[in-house]
Amino acid sequence: MGTLANLALTLLCVIRLGQAASLFHNVQEPLGVPHKRIAIIGAGTGGIAALRTLVRVLPEELTCGWEVVVFEQRRDIGGVWLPDPNPPRPPELPETPLYGHLRTNGPHPTMTMPNFPFKPYTDLFPHHSLVWQYHQDIVHHWNLSSYFRLNHEVTQTRWVGTSEAGKWRVQGRNHEQNKSFTSEFDHLIVATGHAHYPHEPDIEGLYEWNAAAPNRTVVHSIYFRDPADYNGKNVIVLGGSGSGRDIARQVIQHAESTYVSLKFEPEDHPVYPFPRLPGLTFKKQIHHFTRDGIIFVDNSTVSDVDTVVLATGYEYRFPFLTAGGHLDIVADDNEGGEHLTTNLRRLRPLYEHTLSLDTAYPLGALYGVGFPTYSNNGFNDAAVALFIGYTIAYPHLLAERADFLEHLRADEASQRAIGLDPAYVGHRLVRPGGETAYQDGLVEYLQVRGLAGHPGVPPLGQKFTPSWRIYGVAHSAILTRAWTRIEEAGDREVRRWLEGAETEKDWADLIVRLVEWEQGIEEEEGDHGLDVKYR
Ligand SMILES: Cc1cc2nc3c(=O)[nH]c(=O)nc-3n(C[C@H](O)[C@H](O)[C@H](O)COP(=O)(O)OP(=O)(O)OC[C@H]3O[C@@H](n4cnc5c(N)ncnc54)[C@H](O)[C@@H]3O)c2cc1C
Ligand SMILES: *[C@@H]1O[C@H](CO)[C@@H](O)[C@H](O)[C@H]1NC(C)=O
Ligand SMILES: *[C@@H]1O[C@H](CO)[C@@H](O)[C@H](O)[C@H]1NC(C)=O
Ligand SMILES: *[C@@H]1O[C@H](CO)[C@@H](O)[C@H](O)[C@H]1NC(C)=O
Ligand SMILES: *[C@@H]1O[C@H](CO)[C@@H](O)[C@H](O)[C@H]1NC(C)=O
Repeated sequence: MGTLANLALTLLCVIRLGQAASLFHNVQEPLGVPHKRIAIIGAGTGGIAALRTLVRVLPEELTCGWEVVVFEQRRDIGGVWLPDPNPPRPPELPETPLYGHLRTNGPHPTMTMPNFPFKPYTDLFPHHSLVWQYHQDIVHHWNLSSYFRLNHEVTQTRWVGTSEAGKWRVQGRNHEQNKSFTSEFDHLIVATGHAHYPHEPDIEGLYEWNAAAPNRTVVHSIYFRDPADYNGKNVIVLGGSGSGRDIARQVIQHAESTYVSLKFEPEDHPVYPFPRLPGLTFKKQIHHFTRDGIIFVDNSTVSDVDTVVLATGYEYRFPFLTAGGHLDIVADDNEGGEHLTTNLRRLRPLYEHTLSLDTAYPLGALYGVGFPTYSNNGFNDAAVALFIGYTIAYPHLLAERADFLEHLRADEASQRAIGLDPAYVGHRLVRPGGETAYQDGLVEYLQVRGLAGHPGVPPLGQKFTPSWRIYGVAHSAILTRAWTRIEEAGDREVRRWLEGAETEKDWADLIVRLVEWEQGIEEEEGDHGLDVKYR
C-alpha cells in the first residue's frame, strides 16, 4: 500500500477511534488504534470462525489498524471437510480423514456459526460436501477470500523478544511457488485442528500378530476411505467414538465378520452411544494379541480377525510451535511448568483451552481455537474467537497470569474430584454443563468486563448459547431416528419437512417439531431404547 493510502488509513482509524471511545465509554480505552499483525494458522472451521470474528464481527473502530493473515497449507479452505484427492498409503499421512460416505453425526443447525444457517433444503444430516460448501458460503458471504494465503505451510513460529515484548517470526513454505517465506506478527492464533496425527495405542503383541501372517492388516481410521476395501475380511474396530461407530456401521455391509472393541458398554458413551447393529459383535477392551489371535480383558478370545482398524483418535501435535522451541512434547503432563507442553492429549498451561500462559511471551501473544473435543465447533469456535478478538483489542482485559493459572488448577481439581485425570481428559469439556458452560463462560468473561451488548456479545444476564442449540444437541439421537424414518419414507417427505426453513429460527423450530413428532411415534410404538434404528 502507498504511503498516502497508509496515512489515510491511519487518519481514518484515529477519527473512528474518537467514535469508538464514546461508544465504549465503560471500557478503558487504549490510546490510538494500534497497528497489529495477526496470523491465523489453518483455514478450517476454527480459522474461519476466528477470521470472521476479528474482521467482521468486532467493530471496525477497534480493528481498522489490524492486518490479519490466514495461512493454509492446502489448496483451499475447509480443513477436514476438504477432500484429499490422492490419499497416500501409510506411513505418509493423508490431508484429511474424510471419507466418501461421511455425513454429519449431528443435525447441521447445531453445527453452525452464529446467525449463518445452512442453505434452505439442506438435508438435516448432510453429506460432507455440503459442510464444505457451508464453509465456502461463509467466506463468500463475508467477502473473506483476500485474507487467505493458500498453499502456505507454516513450518516454524518463534518468539523473538522477551516475556514482555517482541514478535512472532513465522516461517514457512509457499508450495505453489516452491519458495519459503518469513513474516512477523504480534499475535498468533493456532487453528490447525486435531485430527491429523493418528494415535496408535501400544497394545502388547499387536506387531507380532500382524507379522505372523501375510494377510493381516493394522490400519488407523485416518486411512479409511471405502468400506468395499473390507469385502470378505474379518474386521475388528477399536474405539467407539464418532469414527469407530461410523466405520463399523459401513464395514458390516462388506465384511465377513465385524467386531467392535469398546472400553465402555455400547450405550454408555456420553456423546456417541453405540447402536447394537445386526452383524456387529461387541467385545471388551483388548488385553493383548498373540500370534494366533486376540485376548480380551474378560479372557474371551477371537482368532478369525485379519484386519484391525484403530479408531483410536488423534494426537495434539503442532510441529511449527515445537520447531520454534515453544511446545515441548512431554511424557508426563507438566503440571506446574511455565512453558507450553503437550502430552499429545492436551496443551498445558492454557486458560480455557485457548490462551497460552507460557511465560516466554506476553499474555495474548498465543491463542488456540478449535482445541476442545466433541464440541459443536462452528458455534464453540465463535465464542472462543470473541474472547480472542476482544482481548487482543483490549489487552488490559487479560488478568494476571496467576489468576488464569488458578482457574486452570481449579478446573483440574474438579476433574480429579470426580475421579478423572486431567492429563488424560485433555481438551474434553467434562465440566458440568459441558461445552455450553464453557462457551458461555468465555463470553461472560467479556460481559462482566464492560463488553456486554457490544457486537457479538449478548447483553448482561443473557447467555451466549441460545436454548434451542442446547435442545438440539441434547436431542441429537432422537433427531437421528426421526430423520432416518423420514428418509425411509422417501424424498418427498424429506422435502416436505425441510420446506420453509431459512432463518436460524426456522431451523430451530424444525428441530423441535421433529423431536415432538418422533416422540409421539415412539410412545405409540413403545420403543424408547437405543436399539431402535440408527443410521
Ligand atoms: C472424520 C471426521 C468426521 C467429523 N464429523 C463431524 C460432524 O459430523 N460434526 C461436527 O460438528 N464435527 C465433525 N468433525 C469434527 C471437525 O473436525 C470439526 O467440526 C471442525 O471442522 C474442525 O475444524 P478445525 O478448523 O479446528 O480443524 P481442521 O478442519 O483440521 O482445519 C485445520 C486446518 O489447518 C491447516 N493446517 C494444519 N497445519 C498447518 C500448517 N502448519 N500451516 C498451514 N496450515 C495448516 C490444515 O490443512 C487444515 O485446513 C469430524 C471430524 C472428523 C475427522
Ligand atoms: C471484497 O474484498 C475486496 C478485497 O478486500 C474488496 O476490494 C472488495 O471491494 C470487497 N467487496 C465487497 C462487496 O465488499
Ligand atoms: C523446490 O525448490 C527446492 C530448492 O528450494 C528444489 O530443491 C526443488 O527441486 C524444488 N521443487 C520443485 C518441484 O520445483
Ligand atoms: C489369512 O491367512 C490364513 C493363513 O495364514 C488363513 O487361514 C485365512 O483364511 C486367511 N484369511 C483371509 C481373509 O484370506
Ligand atoms: C483371566 O485369566 C487370568 C489368568 O488365567 C486370571 O488371573 C484373571 O482373573 C482372569 N480374568 C477374568 C476377568 O476372568
